[in-house]
Amino acid sequence: MPNCLIRSTGYWVPPNVIDNDELVASYNAYAARFNAQHADAIAAGEVEEVPLSSADFIVNASGIHRRHVFEKDGILDIDRMVPQIAPRPIEDVSTQAEFALKSIRPALEKAGYDGSEIDGVIVASSAQQRNFPGLACEIQEQIGANGFSFDLTMACASALYGLHIANSMIKAGEARRILISSPEIMTCINVHSRREVHFIFGDASAAMIVEADDGRPGGWDVLGTHAENKWSSALRSDFGFINIAERQVEPDYEPHLDQDGHRVFKDVVGFAPVVARNPMDKIGLAPEGVRRTWLHQANIRMVDMIAKRILGRDRTEENAPAILHEYGNTSSSSVVMNFELHSDDMAAGETGVMCAFGAGYGVGAVAVRKR
Ligand code: COA
Repeated sequence: MPNCLIRSTGYWVPPNVIDNDELVASYNAYAARFNAQHADAIAAGEVEEVPLSSADFIVNASGIHRRHVFEKDGILDIDRMVPQIAPRPIEDVSTQAEFALKSIRPALEKAGYDGSEIDGVIVASSAQQRNFPGLACEIQEQIGANGFSFDLTMACASALYGLHIANSMIKAGEARRILISSPEIMTCINVHSRREVHFIFGDASAAMIVEADDGRPGGWDVLGTHAENKWSSALRSDFGFINIAERQVEPDYEPHLDQDGHRVFKDVVGFAPVVARNPMDKIGLAPEGVRRTWLHQANIRMVDMIAKRILGRDRTEENAPAILHEYGNTSSSSVVMNFELHSDDMAAGETGVMCAFGAGYGVGAVAVRKR
């Protein structure tokens, strides 16, 4: 059974940045206008007032200072509050595939491979821009890859579900080299007019190249992977073909992201470390033997608590780095970005654990060792 290793990673974030002050100014302008327009109904108790947001709250509650976004003006325009993306002719590469390629090309370059040397493509992300044909098929065509391709989604944990599957396929001899692509344009899913969630997401694209060990030095051995789910509807995005068919009022067509933040926080902080400890236990890797854990970035207090439970010691920037102050929650791409940004300083032989968690709930965990 061949050993599986991560040969390279790549990521890309858009240059457009929205800081908390800008985002809150736009949201509050929307709220003030709504409240003025509905002043009588609000006074009569018929309509609920839209509450104001605050940059201080966002930093204190989440640790997010700014986020990089695919398109800025549409989000900040209070008549729109979603990114403005031009439709493309079907013969052109799709928006999300192009976004994905921005992180795939650097991953290929770092590995020193041409697309034709890939024999499997998995798009592992929270959402794909169409039902079919698969985004992975389009990416496979764009880079000239061979073999199979398919899309999978398990929200913010998607990339590590992709790695979990790729690891099994490589060990089983079903593929030699698999590309896992996580292009996340989460600002299209978010509801920027809802105070509880308007600040959470940013956009980013990440990629991993995973392969069978052929003796070439470098990369990261995949020591073990695990994925586990527990159903919950506390975090959901209802925007699929049935929702479109269910419309009763026109226009009633907006993406519907909703969460019970307290519930998600509590449930996931309990569940994620248990899943992360699974591959560690299987290979006899004690917490004190783990130099670093790279966690999905959703909320800084969640990062603190989950890191402590995985590592058995207090979180520091050294043992569980945070990137969400700069990028916000970039869904499945965040754990890969975190790994790439904070792994160069590790020495050969040192081990780390990646853990990503999100809606489902789904949690993926991977133990790795630098070669
Ligand atoms: N601006 C200002 N005030 C706000 C606000 C905002 N944007 N959003 C909420 N508030 C208010 C609340 O109304 C509440 O006021 P009250 O005390 O008068 O009732 C107060 O701030 C505290 O709100 P609360 O919801 O308790 O905040 P919190 O500390 O739990 O943080 C989340 C909220 C969403 C940041 C937090 O629950 C969270 O991150 N949960 C996990 C969600 C997540 O990460 N999901 C993705 C997982 S992959």
